[in-house]
This record gives sequence, C-alpha cells and structure tokens, in this order.
Amino acid sequence: MAKIVIRNLNYKSISTEDSSQTILHIIHSNQIDWMFACGAKGKCTTCKMIVHKGMESFNPPTAAEQKFKDLGKLKANERLACQNNLLGDLEISVAQPNKFPHITYND
Ligand code: FES
Repeated sequence: MAKIVIRNLNYKSISTEDSSQTILHIIHSNQIDWMFACGAKGKCTTCKMIVHKGMESFNPPTAAEQKFKDLGKLKANERLACQNNLLGDLEISVAQPNKFPHITYND
C-alpha cells in the first residue's frame, strides 16, 4: 500500500494498493480536483506535483518530463502526476499556477 499526502490541501491523505495507475488517476479517483489540461498526455505541465517527500520512489523522468526539464519548466523537485505511477509514499503540493479558484489551499 502506498500513500499520497497533499500538503497544501490540509494534508489530505489517500492510499492505494494498485501501482498500475498513474498518480493523477489515483488523485481523481479520490474525488480530488487536480488540473490536467492536456488530458494526461504529457503535453502540458498543469498536473505538476511539487514533491516534498518520496522523490526516491519515482522512476527516472519520462521522455515528456525530460523535455520539460530541458525547457526549465520542471524543476528537480517536480514531477508530472499523469506520467508516473505511485510506487511509494509521497508528500506533494499543488503548484501555485495550477491551483483552482474554487478550492481553498492552505499555503
Ligand atoms: S496533464 Fe498535461 S502533462 Fe500531465
């Protein structure tokens, strides 16, 4: 079982035993709004997560992530929720530009 804690959503915690789904899918499956402007195709960065804990559990960046890293649009502590499965416990935050106006974030 792996767990996602979303720091700036009042440390909301969700967990799953299914590592075959993307982190974005798991977040959405738990009725949490999370931006995904390109439809989870790795073509934007709106699903970006700021990773506070658990970066070691990720696989190396996907080709899509590497492209954004090369362009300076994905920092060392950021990953795309649509491009990665949940392989270990994470503590993440929603990035400032990707916050929804109808949700109250606590940062
Ligand atoms: S939703 Fe566009 S890159 Fe993930």
